Amino acid sequence: MRYLTFALTKGRLAEQTMELLESLGISCEEMKDKHTRKLIFTNEQYGLRFFLAKGPDVPTYVEYGAADIGIVGKDTILEEKRKIYEVLDLGYGKCRMCVCGPESAAQYLTHNQLIRVATKYPNIAKDYFYNKKNQSVELIKLNGSIELAPIVGLSEVIVDIVETGSTLKENGLTVLEEICPLSARMVVNPVSMKMDNARITELIQKMKNRLAADRK
Ligand code: PRP
Repeated sequence: MRYLTFALTKGRLAEQTMELLESLGISCEEMKDKHTRKLIFTNEQYGLRFFLAKGPDVPTYVEYGAADIGIVGKDTILEEKRKIYEVLDLGYGKCRMCVCGPESAAQYLTHNQLIRVATKYPNIAKDYFYNKKNQSVELIKLNGSIELAPIVGLSEVIVDIVETGSTLKENGLTVLEEICPLSARMVVNPVSMKMDNARITELIQKMKNRLAADRK
């Protein structure tokens, strides 16, 4: 039996996914060692392999078939636009993609003005402003701490993830418009889906059942 390889987004998504798999009897002891420098972990019993990657790299590994399955946020799926199948909403990692800024910036969103938008997600921001709102904007790509941009005058608004809203609140910013809800998703390589259909669909079904049972 060939290994089915998982690319997991490093951090909380990977941890929650391993907990979910563990509840199905699929565990990976060597992954729990916090000090290990190993990059790839195996479960011989089920013929599974796991590795951790940065979120935006997960769809890349899956599109090329270096991983059969990926666990990644919906934000990253929308931003990366890879040829992969999204097969399951895992329900955790829930947050929202929003246009945010100071209250005073709300006027710029209704008067179709050419404003600057800072974001880690230029494709999502471009699609929202150009295709949904028909508003021309100047996009500025940043790599983190996006909330700084409107505070220091780099942009009028930002497009960013809001989870609890506390980062916005502590910095005098607010949600101006909601773009879409987000959560962790399972994605699959299209060729793997054909070649290993029975194994992959069985796994998806088991995960679905567990998630439904947990919701009750
Ligand atoms: C994300 C996001 C916000 C924050 C939202 O940043 O970009 O800054 O979390 O969470 P909250 O609504 O619960 O405050 P992350 O911590 O991933 O780091 P980053 O700033 O480097 O993107």
